[in-house]
Amino acid sequence: MHALGVFLLFLQVALVLLAASYLYYDWKLGAASVPSSPAAGRAVAELVPPEASCVVDLGSGWGGMAIKVARARPQTKVIGIEYALPPYAFSRLRQLFNPSLKNLSFLRTDLFKYPLAPVSAVICYMPPEMMERLAPKLAGELRPGAIIISNSAGLPGQTPEKTVDVPALLLAEKIFIYRIGHDQTHRL
Ligand SMILES: C[S@@+](CC[C@H](N)C(=O)[O-])C[C@H]1O[C@@H](n2cnc3c(N)ncnc32)[C@H](O)[C@@H]1O
Repeated sequence: MHALGVFLLFLQVALVLLAASYLYYDWKLGAASVPSSPAAGRAVAELVPPEASCVVDLGSGWGGMAIKVARARPQTKVIGIEYALPPYAFSRLRQLFNPSLKNLSFLRTDLFKYPLAPVSAVICYMPPEMMERLAPKLAGELRPGAIIISNSAGLPGQTPEKTVDVPALLLAEKIFIYRIGHDQTHRL
């Protein structure tokens, strides 16, 4: 077979495998690896308090959001948690190409098993159903004063401390910011 033919066949197989794994993880996890828009990513990064010691991107996808935060907040430890293999592998590759970001790491694990107690800020971009599932974990594990910065979907039944509109040519986005309270009965 001609070398170009072999290459095209390889490309087709790789694309089919990528599409299949994308659908599989979307079905298994309930959230597709759709990245935040660059404008939303920049807005989220700006909202992370400069004094935050540790920020976790819950469901870091292809790594773009975590990388933006790590660049904007060099003193902050930024951890991207992602379970789906293709985006996780891609974000590790991006990390290799950004060796100056010593404060950035990616972990392949289920975000529901990741302990949030030492975390000062959580960032996420999840569908509303996932925010509903995440709410008890955030309220139960994050320490008082910790913040949650969520792109597009709010926490059901909770009033955000503030919201930020991200203008866009087609679809404007909204970012929701919550803070964990000190009162154990009303922690959010
Ligand atoms: C919409 S993407 C957001 C990507 C990134 N945070 C951003 O803003 O660009 C949500 C990601 O969460 C991941 N995810 C969903 N459930 C997960 C779980 N239980 N554990 C780890 N990652 C999960 C999905 O695989 C997907 O890549």
